[in-house]
Amino acid sequence: MDQFHLFPPQASSGASHVDWLFLALTLVSLFFVVLVFLPITFFAIKYRRGSSADRSHPSSGSNLLEAGWTLFPILLSVGLFIWGATTYYHMQRPPRDALQVQVVGKQWMWKLQHAEGKKEINELHLPLGRTVNLTLTSEDAIHSFFVPAFRVKQDAVPGRYANEWFRPTRLGEYHLFCAEYCGTNHSRMVGRVVVMEPAEYEDWLRTGETGQSVALEGQRQFRERGCSGCHEGSTTIHAPPLRGIYGKQVPLASGEVITADDQYLRDSILLPGKQISAGYDNVMPSYSGHISEAEIMQITAYLKSTSDQPSTKP
Ligand code: CUA
Repeated sequence: MDQFHLFPPQASSGASHVDWLFLALTLVSLFFVVLVFLPITFFAIKYRRGSSADRSHPSSGSNLLEAGWTLFPILLSVGLFIWGATTYYHMQRPPRDALQVQVVGKQWMWKLQHAEGKKEINELHLPLGRTVNLTLTSEDAIHSFFVPAFRVKQDAVPGRYANEWFRPTRLGEYHLFCAEYCGTNHSRMVGRVVVMEPAEYEDWLRTGETGQSVALEGQRQFRERGCSGCHEGSTTIHAPPLRGIYGKQVPLASGEVITADDQYLRDSILLPGKQISAGYDNVMPSYSGHISEAEIMQITAYLKSTSDQPSTKP
């Protein structure tokens, strides 16, 4: 017989933090349940109909008691809030050196691509001990990428990007679920996460169809889709040059200044009229419906790679 587990294994660096917080919340709730229900039971019996208990209600009061049961819950809930907020804040900020994996949810599967180019469906292979950052989005409904053993769950929302990061600390296979109802086959949108020895992972990356790295594939998209025609080198069309733009501040025609992040680049491809760069006309056609989320992520990865190296332009 399979062993019964109350909790999934703790297979990531953040798992124990989440479990301690969860345990604390459970204990606090339990404490107050007992605190309320024990007296209820006691009084229900003591003052039941027909009992000879004293019902004269002499008035009594205690400022100390009043102050105590006001202050104690306040301190307790503020403490829990700070604890929870710190944990959440930590989980929302991926470390810089993380391995990048792009994840696109669609009805009803997870499509993943590693930075080196390897693609997977409903499976995620990872090296033990390396921090991994997923960039998530969706092509249709809202999905949610849930790995119980890592204690991470993040919605993949169409039209926007989300991050989810973790550091696997145990070898093995773990469940992957879609944790947001997304239509008929939601319950079948499951898969597995495989944590391997780093050397084994390197071998795995090189087996089967490896393809080009995400950034190189993005560069190909950038050329084939004609982006480079207007956005690169000497061109007759007046369009903002994009080499090295990732992470830079971009002044907009509206007077705002915006950081060129994944979201901005995605919006500029699909909704080019939304945020016009200062000094340029709104002439770019929208690629909405002509390009997949995975391809947009590749183009973004390419533009990012041109920012990581020192610019070759004067
Ligand atoms: Cu995808 Cu539920």
